[in-house]
Amino acid sequence: MEKVLAKDLFTKEFKDGEEITIEGWIRTIRGSKKIGFIEVNDGSFLKNVQVVFSNDLEDFDEIKKFPISTTIEVTGELALTPGAQQPFEIHATAVKELGTSDSDYPLQKKAHTYEYLRTIAHLRPRTNTFYSIFKVRSLASFAIHEYLQHNGFSYIQTPIITSSDAEGAGEMFQVTTLDMNNVPKTDDGKVDYNEDFFKKETNLTVSGQLEVEAFALALRNVYTFGPTFRAENSHTGRHASEFWMIEPEMAFADMQDEINVSEELLKYVVQYVFDHAKEEIQFLNDNIDEHLIERLSNTVSEDFAQITYTKAIELLEEADVDFEVPVKWGLDLESEHERYLSEKVFGKPVFLTDYPKDFKAFYMRANDDGKTVAAADLLVPEIGELIGGSQREERLDVLEEKIKEFGLNSDEYKWYLELRKYGGTVHSGFGIGFERLVMYLTGMKNIRDVIAYPRTPGNAEF
Ligand code: 4AD
Ligand code: MG
Repeated sequence: MEKVLAKDLFTKEFKDGEEITIEGWIRTIRGSKKIGFIEVNDGSFLKNVQVVFSNDLEDFDEIKKFPISTTIEVTGELALTPGAQQPFEIHATAVKELGTSDSDYPLQKKAHTYEYLRTIAHLRPRTNTFYSIFKVRSLASFAIHEYLQHNGFSYIQTPIITSSDAEGAGEMFQVTTLDMNNVPKTDDGKVDYNEDFFKKETNLTVSGQLEVEAFALALRNVYTFGPTFRAENSHTGRHASEFWMIEPEMAFADMQDEINVSEELLKYVVQYVFDHAKEEIQFLNDNIDEHLIERLSNTVSEDFAQITYTKAIELLEEADVDFEVPVKWGLDLESEHERYLSEKVFGKPVFLTDYPKDFKAFYMRANDDGKTVAAADLLVPEIGELIGGSQREERLDVLEEKIKEFGLNSDEYKWYLELRKYGGTVHSGFGIGFERLVMYLTGMKNIRDVIAYPRTPGNAEF
């Protein structure tokens, strides 16, 4: 008996009457006196396989009572049904129980709220929505590696435990092995990290950028793609305490080069997901966001817009909208402003460049105007900021001054400064928030629903 996957049944040629076996989980089951129907999902494909069984089977009455999510193996004859809603069904000659399921299985056939599904994060991948999201997430991750590797970028795994603060924003989770009930102190009453595991203060990385910059100055085009952590107390649908970031970094590249690569990479990923997750994208369009396919198609076919921050402020000031937070040159944009620009003004992704230096990171290259830096953020509809990038400050003296200005401990950045001391050059890079990209690709509105086990302030379940 040939064991087959649903994916193959739906996408390859099979002969009518062929004897096959599938294994999977019962999604729905119903029966009358003589005949029963089971929809089985085997995990290989979004769609269920329809199984028909009749009272010819000895255990017909027991099968009919199988609760939803029972694991079964079905052997039977394939019946092609072209033109019907289901292109085929299996006429069962045997239905074997491989694993039982209790009748209180939480995912009965009714709509559940996302809030409720988050409380059963271990079971929600069994719904069509979360199945689709995590398929898309996996494919997007592959496409990113594929694009970058094909374009000569080397993958560098930067450390998760670091002693630097890459963003200089102080939003770090500390790593310590100290006995919290008995913390060693220095003479001036501070925690004595010399007594700790690493003999110094360490934290979970907020970004692998600084470490990967070192590799760009050796391997030219590089990237890191890994988990990052931020102890920011943001309670929004777009912030998580643990998220993944893709950070390409290129030597001999300026801000415009970095912008161009990020646009090409995004388009590649969207196209790849379109080509490899057709069923999932269609499902998400039909059930989650009716504009998803339209938005993604436009993303691939249209050039992104690009304006300066200063121009964006002008546009926002002209806008006939009462923003909750008023705009003013010199202040960072809120997500309402970012979304207004990408959704209402441009109707597509837009790069904003040359932000005021005061609220951007210390490593961004100072522009000649003395007020702005060569930073570029990509703002996209429905989400706001998806990418943060910049040209890096390659002038040693300017960078030293910046580190002082930001009140950072220059000892911790000694090695970073040496990248300028020994053969510095123009170089640039950007960071894509992977979860925000998955939100963009799926139409999901809350970052908690595109992460397998989300971590947010007050929540680290599972
Ligand atoms: O703008 P950010 O903070 O930039 C950096 O970390 C740079 N070191 C990147 C670089 O140039 N190599 O973060 C980059 C992106 C943001 O645009 C956003 O998409 C995402 O990371 N991001 C978050 N995603 C989820 N939850 C959070 N708390 C996030 N913070 C940033
Ligand atoms: Mg940013």
